Amino acid sequence: MRAARAFAAEGDETLNRLRLALEHRFDGSVTTIRDRATHAVPLCEPPNRVAEEDTLHVPVDDDAAADHAAYSRAVELRDILERRRMVRAYAPDPVDRATVERIVATVRRAPSAGFSQGQRLLVVTHEETRRNIGQLLGEREWVTQAPVLIVVGVREDDYHERYRKPDKLIDGQELEWPVPYWHFDAGAAAMLILLAAIDEGYAAGLFGVFAEAMQPFKRLLHIPDDVAVTCCITIGKPADDSQWDAVTSRLTQARRSVDDLVHWERWG
Ligand SMILES: Cc1cc2nc3c(=O)[nH]c(=O)nc-3n(C[C@H](O)[C@H](O)[C@H](O)COP(=O)(O)O)c2cc1C
Repeated sequence: MRAARAFAAEGDETLNRLRLALEHRFDGSVTTIRDRATHAVPLCEPPNRVAEEDTLHVPVDDDAAADHAAYSRAVELRDILERRRMVRAYAPDPVDRATVERIVATVRRAPSAGFSQGQRLLVVTHEETRRNIGQLLGEREWVTQAPVLIVVGVREDDYHERYRKPDKLIDGQELEWPVPYWHFDAGAAAMLILLAAIDEGYAAGLFGVFAEAMQPFKRLLHIPDDVAVTCCITIGKPADDSQWDAVTSRLTQARRSVDDLVHWERWG
């Protein structure tokens, strides 16, 4: 009897270990599955489903108003992508600290060349600083409106330091960089922030800091010389930004077709 109980307890522990391992593996997302019947597919489908043609040809409605209400169910990446657009008007409601922390923590999941991890973020929430940034950059009301602003920076030296380590040297030399991987990695981190913001039920926008404003911008925020600013991301509850469509690329440029952008097997 005692042996049977011990066996049962051991079985429970094994099950618990399995459950924890699973939760760890999926980064906690397992616990968000509420309805096995409707959420069975993502766990069972083969991993190559993203490459299916019909997935690639899902039309993107460029003129849709921002729809960033929080999801009421566990969602797939495809749901988030349908909402992915730059939003250029925000309600003044603040974003709570824990949410911002979750959004910026995605930087740890960003890929980086050689795992150099050169990405650096600066979160700005103080109203006065946001106002100063808006004034510095000029005529960007939405920059000041958004309650959260994230500067996406990257430290190039992290890459040189990493690629001068023995396991990365090529014939004793740092590699010849085919493209600046540090800029690529900053872009990857920015993308995660944009998607994480939508996942949390917020809207996001992105802007660049013009070259002539860069030094005053870095001085204002005390950004060190060895960190390059690649872009800034605004996050907040969306307001109506439809008047922006006429002046931004969204209506002045057509979205290219998948066939224009994607080649298969050979370029032509
Ligand atoms: C590197 C980069 C810089 C950008 N700079 C600005 C900017 O300064 N101001 C702005 O309104 N949008 C900026 N955008 C947003 C683009 O205009 C936008 O992504 C593009 O028009 C496509 O629209 P969508 O993202 O809403 O689909 C930038 C995007 C990138 C990737």
